[in-house]
Amino acid sequence: MTDPKRYTITAALPYTNGPIHIGHLAGVYIPADIYARYLRLTGNDVLYICGSDEHGVAIPMRAKKEGVSPREIIDKYHNIIKTSFEEFGISFDNYSRTSAKVHHETASEFFKKMYDKGQFIEEVTAQLYDAEAEQFLADRFVVGTCPKCGFEEAYGDQCENCGSSLNATDLINPKSTITGSIPILKETRHWFLPLNQYEDFLKEWILDGHKNDWKPNVYGQCKSWIDDGLKPRAVTRDLDWGIDVPVEGAEGKKLYVWFDAPIGYISSTKEWAEREGKDWEPYWKDKNTKLLHFIGKDNIVFHCIIFPSMLKADGDYVLPDNVPANEFLNLEGNKLSTSKNWAVWLHEYLEEFPDKQDVLRYVLTANAPETKDNDFTWKDFQARNNNELVAIFGNFINRVVVLTNKYYEGVVPRPGVFTDVDNETLEQLRSYPRIISSSLERYRFREALNELMNLARLGNKYLADEEPWKVIKENEARVQTIMFVALQIATALSVLCEPFLPFTSKKLKSILRHSELDSESTWHRVSNKEFLLPSEHHIGTSELLFSKIEDSEIQKQLDKLEASKKANEATAKTVDPQKETIEFDDFTKLDIRIGTILEAEKVPKTKKLLQLKVDVGIDIRTIVSGIAESFSPEEIIGQQVTVLCNLAPRKIRGVESQGMILMTDAVDGKLAFVEPERAVSNGKQIS
Ligand code: 2FM
Ligand code: ZN
Repeated sequence: MTDPKRYTITAALPYTNGPIHIGHLAGVYIPADIYARYLRLTGNDVLYICGSDEHGVAIPMRAKKEGVSPREIIDKYHNIIKTSFEEFGISFDNYSRTSAKVHHETASEFFKKMYDKGQFIEEVTAQLYDAEAEQFLADRFVVGTCPKCGFEEAYGDQCENCGSSLNATDLINPKSTITGSIPILKETRHWFLPLNQYEDFLKEWILDGHKNDWKPNVYGQCKSWIDDGLKPRAVTRDLDWGIDVPVEGAEGKKLYVWFDAPIGYISSTKEWAEREGKDWEPYWKDKNTKLLHFIGKDNIVFHCIIFPSMLKADGDYVLPDNVPANEFLNLEGNKLSTSKNWAVWLHEYLEEFPDKQDVLRYVLTANAPETKDNDFTWKDFQARNNNELVAIFGNFINRVVVLTNKYYEGVVPRPGVFTDVDNETLEQLRSYPRIISSSLERYRFREALNELMNLARLGNKYLADEEPWKVIKENEARVQTIMFVALQIATALSVLCEPFLPFTSKKLKSILRHSELDSESTWHRVSNKEFLLPSEHHIGTSELLFSKIEDSEIQKQLDKLEASKKANEATAKTVDPQKETIEFDDFTKLDIRIGTILEAEKVPKTKKLLQLKVDVGIDIRTIVSGIAESFSPEEIIGQQVTVLCNLAPRKIRGVESQGMILMTDAVDGKLAFVEPERAVSNGKQIS
C-alpha cells in the first residue's frame, strides 16, 4: 500500500449548448469517476471537480437557433447536464458553472495578474469580420478549409478532423457561419499569450519529463505542436457574451472561452472549499498535490500547452501530473453528432432503461476509446449485458446468495479445512486489488474492468468445479467450506466493482448486509488474510443485480437511429447551404419574366430534354429544358412558368436555347415549375 496522497481530478467542463451523450460519458466522465472512486477507496484525499462551460460562441449560437436568450440556454442545459451526471453516479465533489460570480472574479483576477506582470502581448491585428452581421468572426463563427489537413469544415479555433489548433485567419476560404458571407479583414486590438516564450519550458516539462508516463496519443499531439513551433495566441475576443476583459481600453471585449474555462476548475474548487469549510489552495498549490485532467482528444492542446503555460506564468500553481485524454466514441459506425441527432442522449437512455445506469457505465468502459476511436453499437450493448453482466457477474452472485439462504438460512457458514483448490482460489482472490490497481494506475480502464470480470469468472468456475449442489447430498461439511469461499468472492466483488458499477456495488453490499464494506481502505482489505465476511454473519435474500435485455428493446433503439438518419437525409436533400452574398446590382442584372409554354416536344435521342416554345411577352422563343423525366409534353402546354430571359443563348443537342425555365425540386422527387399564384400577363418581370 502506498502513502495516501492529495489528488485534484478535473473532468472537462461541458458546454451548455446541448445535453450530454454517451460520447461525453465514455471519453471523460466515466474514466475520471472510476479513478476518483478508486482513489477514495484506497484512502486518498480526492477532490473531483467539474462544472458547466457557459461562455464561448457556442452559447449565443444555440440561443439564436432556439430563439431565446443565452441566459435561458445556459440555465436549461446546465440543469439537464447536472441531473444526468447525478443520475449516472458521477461522483463530483463539486459541479459548478462558469457564469458563477466566483468564477468571473477568479478568471478576471488571473488575467489581471498576468496583465500586470506584462505577460501578454497587446496588438492591433486584422481579424475576420462579417460586415453583414457587423461582428468579428472567431472560433465557431467561422468555418473554412484546414491549412494542415484540407478538411473543409474546420472551425476558426480548431480542426476537428486533424485536431490542429487554429487561428481564424489561418483558414482557407473562410465563411461566416452567421450569414454565410465571406468575411473581410478589419483591425481590432487584442491581448495575446506569447506561447513561443513557453517553448523551452514545455519541451523540458513534457517532452523530457513525461515521455514515459503520458499516453502516447497525448504525448504525440504535444510533441507535434511543440515541434511545429508555437505562436502567440489571442486570449481575448470581440464578443457580447463572456467575461469582460478587466483592463482599460478593452471595453466590449471578452476573455476567450478557452482562457476562462480551465480556470473554472479553480473556481469550482473555491466554491467547494467555501461550502465545506476547507482551504482550496493546497489542492492547486501544494507541490505534493497530483493534478489530473480527464478530457477528450480535442482538448489536448488546451490542457497540455495553453493552460499549463498560464499556470506557469502565474507561478503559484502545480502543473498537471497527467492528462489521460481519450479518443472519440462513434455510434453505429458514424461520428456522434448533436446537430444530426446522431447520439444516445443520457436523459433519453434513462427513460428507456431506468435502473440500468451501471449497464451503460459497464459497456462504455469495456469499449472505451482509450487508444483509438471506438464504436458503440446497440447489439454490443445487449450482448455485454446479457452475456457478461447477467450471465457471469449476476449469475455468480445469485447462485451464492440463493444457496446460502437455502442451506444456511442466510447465515455465513463456518469453513472446515481448506483444500488446495480453496487455498489457490483464495490466493487468487487476494491478488485482485493489486491487479486491478495496476491497470487503473496506468489509466487502463478497459483492462481493469476485464480483471474485475475475471474475478467473477473465478467465482463461477469455482462453483462449477466444486458443485456444492451435488456435494450437499454426501458431504454437508464440505459444502460449508465451499460456500464460505464463494461468499468471500462475492464480498470482494462488492468492494472492487464500486468504482466501475457504483449502483451494483451498493445493491450487492445491501444484499450481503455488510455496512463496514463502505469504509475507506476496504480495497486493500480484500488482500488481507482476514476474511471480509465472517462466519455467523447474516446476509439478506437474493435480488437480481442485472436483467436480460430483449431484442425488441434493442430494435426500438435502432429504429430511433434510423429515423434520425432518414430525417438527416431529407434535410440534406432539401436544403442546400446559402450561396455567396451578392450585391443588389447583381440581382437587377437578371431579366426574369413570366411566360407561357405554347408548344413542347421531346428532343430526339435524349431522356431528359424537352424543346419548348415559350411566350415571354417580348417574343416567342425556343428554350431547351431538362424536364422530360418529370413532365410529358402534352401536360405542360399552357403552363405559366418563370423564365430567365437574358441568359446567353447556347446550343443544346444542336438546338439553340434562348433562356432558362426556373425549376425547383418537389417533395416527391420530381421537378416543379415556379409559377405565379394568380394570373399574370406574359412578359411581367420578377423584381
Ligand atoms: O470541449 C468542450 O466541451 C469544452 N467545453 C471543454 C472545456 S474544458 C475546460 F478547460 F474547462
Ligand atoms: Zn485539419
